[in-house]
Amino acid sequence: MANEKGRFMTWVDARFPLTKIWNEQAAEYHAPKNLNFWYYFGSLALLVLIIQIVTGIWLTMAYNPSAEGAFASVEYIMRDVEYGWLIRYMHSTGASAFFVVVYLHMFRSLLYGSYKGPRELIWVIGMCIYLALMAEAFFGYLLPWGQMSFWGAQVITSLFGVIPIVGDDLALWIRGDYVVSGATLNRFFAMHVVALPLIIIALVVLHMIALHEVGSSNPDGIDIKDQKDENGHPVDGIVFHPYYTVKDLVGVVIFLIVFCAVMFFAPEMGGFFLEAPNFEPANPLVTPDHIAPVWYMTPYYAILRAIPDQFWGVVAMGGAIAVLFVLPWLDRSPVRSLRYRSWPSKVALFIFVVSFVVLGYLGLVEPTETRALLAQIFTVLYFLFFLAMPFYTRMEKTKPVPTRVTK
Ligand code: HEM
Repeated sequence: MANEKGRFMTWVDARFPLTKIWNEQAAEYHAPKNLNFWYYFGSLALLVLIIQIVTGIWLTMAYNPSAEGAFASVEYIMRDVEYGWLIRYMHSTGASAFFVVVYLHMFRSLLYGSYKGPRELIWVIGMCIYLALMAEAFFGYLLPWGQMSFWGAQVITSLFGVIPIVGDDLALWIRGDYVVSGATLNRFFAMHVVALPLIIIALVVLHMIALHEVGSSNPDGIDIKDQKDENGHPVDGIVFHPYYTVKDLVGVVIFLIVFCAVMFFAPEMGGFFLEAPNFEPANPLVTPDHIAPVWYMTPYYAILRAIPDQFWGVVAMGGAIAVLFVLPWLDRSPVRSLRYRSWPSKVALFIFVVSFVVLGYLGLVEPTETRALLAQIFTVLYFLFFLAMPFYTRMEKTKPVPTRVTK
């Protein structure tokens, strides 16, 4: 049997570089030996991407992308299709899980300065993935054709109307109608099931190519390629397979336990993952009392509402995302990891995380005068984290970085 496998692989390798790719990318690919908990989230993001694609294909088999049939077809999936409820809950829980995992993955980059040279492109491609993921989630949210689907899409597409000169035409072009309608649903469906998945998969491939070109960073932010043994392998590196394939499997098992617990026992997650108004069919004549996006978009929604003028609100919201793209060039610190930085960087990151969470909360609840003021304060803090970065990262004292990885 082993001999036959060997003969088969020789046959394949003479025609396609399978063993060569496997060795280069896994069996002989050296990753730092000190990758910790925070490095689970890249492989978990890949897992959730696969879950979303597979469950999405099955949902599409029974879903009806029309204003007349969409809501009823989702109910049909939930009640009549064999295991339809499971597939739908996997997909809806998967959407939120995607953002949980991606936010933790991005936070790791902030902790250890993973975005700093030579990994700027990994970060920029990651940001493109993040943008594409938000678009994917936004288009997908219209598909159940519930009240929140309809009114959420109405609010967001109307935002394009504030752009000077071309705004109204642009909003009309995006919706394909004067208001959100069946035409909008059809095009959002096309974007959600074909265009954006293709874009996301392509971007993830680019992300991985860029990562394997320069290699993973690590919690110490040391370049492991600087110290090599007599065979030319980094002394602080271990081969990806089997060490990290097995380690990542541990993360997968723990993640799946949490994922299943949410999916089976709290798929609505108290209205965070599936909002209550979305259990009512879309009604263009009745506006829900309170329109709010799903939790992963609410920090930006709070920034939008914090600015009284709608145009500048949209600019601030766009700016809040755009500024993340240039992060690698704002950070002027000579060291990567927070471990070797001083209190200004640590305090700044803490304030940033608090601002993001508070803004997320403020974007979820109904605005009052106090909340509007709070949203303005935390919007300023959010931007300060980035705009003050070139100064505090250059001025603070850093600790000496060891030559070999610690733990
Ligand atoms: C579908 C979404 C994504 C997938 C599947 C993905 C996958 C991965 C994987 C497998 C790794 C290597 C393991 C690890 O470092 O955890 C990685 C590294 C990295 N990712 Fe992502 N990623 C995604 C989104 C993002 C986003 C949104 C960003 C940031 C905006 C980002 C930034 C980075 C950076 C900077 C690294 C290098 C980390 C280092 O070497 O220390 N990724 N990604």
